[in-house]
Amino acid sequence: METSPFPFSKYPSSTKSSPMKGTAIIPGDKSISHRSVMFGSLSCGKTIITGLLEGEDVMNTAQAMKEMGAKIEKKENGIWEIEGVGIGNLKQPENTLEMGNSGTSVRLLMGICASQPIKTRFSGDASLTKRPMERVTIALEKMGAKFIYEKEQGKLPLSMEGAQQITPIKYKLPIASAQVKSAIILAGINSPKITTVIEPHPTRDYTENMLKSFGADITSKLNDDGSKTITIKGGKQLTGCNINVPSDPSSAAFPTVAALINKDSEIILPNIGINPLRFGLYETLIEMGADITLVNQKEESGEKVADLIIKGSNKLKAINVPKSRVPSMIDEFPIFAVAASCAVGTTHMEGLAELRVKESDRLAMMAKGLKSCGVNLEEGKDTLTIHGTGTPPKGGTLIETALDHRIAMSFLILGTVTDETIFIDDSSPIKTSFPDFINLMNNLGANING
Ligand code: S3P
Repeated sequence: METSPFPFSKYPSSTKSSPMKGTAIIPGDKSISHRSVMFGSLSCGKTIITGLLEGEDVMNTAQAMKEMGAKIEKKENGIWEIEGVGIGNLKQPENTLEMGNSGTSVRLLMGICASQPIKTRFSGDASLTKRPMERVTIALEKMGAKFIYEKEQGKLPLSMEGAQQITPIKYKLPIASAQVKSAIILAGINSPKITTVIEPHPTRDYTENMLKSFGADITSKLNDDGSKTITIKGGKQLTGCNINVPSDPSSAAFPTVAALINKDSEIILPNIGINPLRFGLYETLIEMGADITLVNQKEESGEKVADLIIKGSNKLKAINVPKSRVPSMIDEFPIFAVAASCAVGTTHMEGLAELRVKESDRLAMMAKGLKSCGVNLEEGKDTLTIHGTGTPPKGGTLIETALDHRIAMSFLILGTVTDETIFIDDSSPIKTSFPDFINLMNNLGANING
């Protein structure tokens, strides 16, 4: 039933679809792509990257590394080649490093620049300039870098000056954040002494894993209380290497949930990264009764990958998501909330404070958008409780996406099952992480209008 054609019809929209069928190649992992470009640029010699995500965020990282002296080129067959400058040899950029929408770019690059004797200026778009930066700059100041916030304390734009000689620190992370952890490790890489990061709640470990492939002296130890201690002894050069970027489990989450909520679907998503520190959404969905099978498990560039087979055969049953699982599905809560809205029963999520400082306040944006689609829910300070009826909500509304790619994609997925069309105010942020999302979803059977 098509409704509300006016005044929303000029907006991107999603309407009820046929079951999802087929195989879809999901683009490269965003976190791994950023790191491969950064570490390749910092190394001596050549780094060859296959499967790099060519979304806007990663391209902003590449542009910044070029401004600081790295040679980065796309070759035939989609392979990227980087000629690095070596640690300590980054060139002072002439221009502001414009980071667009990308928190990972700016926070990791601040870590890298903290130990280089150069001055840099960072800025970003209307979303990024609202996001907190002190979580990184406070730690990097302890290591000797200097920061000047130009407009508002803790927010971009900022100017920074790297330390002549970085001071290694021992730092216990006050929040579970792979970006903060990575920034400190990357600053420590230019000191011959030992920098230590303790993470009470382990987060994605791509920085640690990939730095090892580049020859860094880095160790991680899981402690008895579940925390992790990471040490890096820097002061030696990294060596360029070959990286195969697996497909992104966060991007794969969108077709996965689409297949689960559209009855009779069956899709295959090859070569998805299944690092346990990123796999929380899939574990949760499986506990809710989702039919997800992992086949062809193997290891590529030190990361585990598998092909996922997803069938829309069962109705999802609501659960309480354990708080301890939040870091491993931190980017998936928007699309998970869509799945919970279609499930039978009450799904409760807690420990979600970090969602408020992502590309948008994701807790507020999801709660508001889902409510307007007819979902019965309660939003708390750091909790979300969704009462599913086992039938999709009504839809038929215009969703505000606040420059957030994952909010935009989540509601376009929900629109594949609602009786009435869902419109979103802006689909352009999708290109930051998943440029081909609409085509890929439509090839599987969705009815999305870009
Ligand atoms: C990322 C870490 C996470 C995640 C972001 C990517 C990374 O951020 O939300 O999308 O690549 O390190 P936090 O470290 O702020 O949790």
